[in-house]
Formats: sequence, structure tokens, C-alpha cells
Amino acid sequence: MLIRRERSDDVDAIRTVTARAFDGRPYSNGSEAPLVDALRADRGWIPALSMVAEVGGAVVGHVVCTRATISGQPALGLGPLSVDPAWQQRGVGSALVHAMLGGADALGEPVVVLLGDPAYYHRFGFQLAAEYGIDPPVPQWAPNFQARALSTYRPDLRGPFEYAAPFQDS
Ligand SMILES: CC(C)(COP(=O)(O)OP(=O)(O)OC[C@H]1O[C@@H](n2cnc3c(N)ncnc32)[C@H](O)[C@@H]1OP(=O)(O)O)[C@@H](O)C(=O)NCCC(=O)NCCS
Repeated sequence: MLIRRERSDDVDAIRTVTARAFDGRPYSNGSEAPLVDALRADRGWIPALSMVAEVGGAVVGHVVCTRATISGQPALGLGPLSVDPAWQQRGVGSALVHAMLGGADALGEPVVVLLGDPAYYHRFGFQLAAEYGIDPPVPQWAPNFQARALSTYRPDLRGPFEYAAPFQDS
């Protein structure tokens, strides 16, 4: 498995992998694949932080971080994260998250924030965002709203979190 940046010829495969990963999940409304396309067209898109997992030339997973803010200061929002069902439980998701955190840290980003299952993300160093004083856009998200501090994180980075604009429509 290789982890690398998204290329322009990956777009269709990313859309397919995203749709397959979320298909039938109780927490999905089918908006994730169109959301990736909308994010790519948005000013919050960061080309270095859209990564695919490739096996034998095929895209089997994808993760993206886009520009978000905390009290108006730059931060990252992670998601969607998708692994093709045929390739789940083999470490692909973990490889993508580790690569993303390393890339974000290398770029000097202070923090990665996401909405997800703490049982999965705890292993990557995510903690409830509330512990950092980072408030979700929807208060009910609090039990699943998590943050991972990176090297340049400072404790005064706190307050309301806002995703890139396309998340509001998804
Ligand atoms: C979540 C997802 C990305 C994980 O990818 P993956 O390649 O299967 O993950 P890995 O193989 O790296 O890790 C598998 C481990 O994570 C655990 N895991 C996967 N999803 C989990 C969840 N929702 N809650 C708790 N643990 C979870 C597995 O039990 C396994 O644990 P183990 O290592 O102790 O056996 C993948 O299942 C997926 O695409 N799901 C559908 C889309 C989705 O939910 N995306 C994330 C939304 S925030």
C-alpha cells in the first residue's frame, strides 16, 4: 500500500471509494462523496492534504483535511475519511490518518479537528475537543467532536470551530 497526495486523475476513484465506504452506514445520509467534490472546489481546499491509499494502482482509501477556523484562527477539519469496504480492517484507515497527521504537522498546522467515533480516533491521539475548549458548531456533536493537537498548538486556540463552507450544506 502506498499513501500519496491526490492527483487529478484520482477524482472519480475517490468519489467511488467515498460512496462505497459510507453506503448503508446509519450515520450517513449519502452526502459524503458530493461533499468531497464540493470541498475540492472551495477556497478551503489544501491540495497537500488530500491523500489516497493506493494498492496495485487502484485507490482503496482517501482522507482529506480542509481549512477550518477556531475563533477565526486557522485550524484543520478532517473528513471525510473513507476506506473501500473490501479493504477495511487491514490498516488502510490507520495509515491514512497517520500520514495526514504527519503532513499537517509538517505544514505547521496547530490542530486537526473531526467528528467521529472516539473509540477509533483515540489511538491517533485525538481527545474530546471540549478538553481543549474547542466548541462544535452543533452542541449535540460534543461526545464525538475531537481534536488532535500538533507541534505548533497553543492553549489559547479555543472557542467556536467552523468547518469549510461546504460542510454546512452537507
Ligand atoms: C473507519 C474506517 C475509515 C476505518 O478504516 P480501516 O482501514 O478499516 O481501519 P484500520 O484497518 O486502520 O483499523 C481497524 C481498526 O479500527 C477499528 N474500527 C474501525 N471503525 C471503528 C469505529 N467506528 N469504532 C471503533 N473502532 C473502529 C476496528 O475495529 C479495528 O480495530 P483493531 O485494530 O483493534 O482490530 C473505515 O471503516 C470506513 O471507511 N468506514 C466507513 C466510513 C467512515 O465511517 N469513516 C469515518 C467517519 S468519521
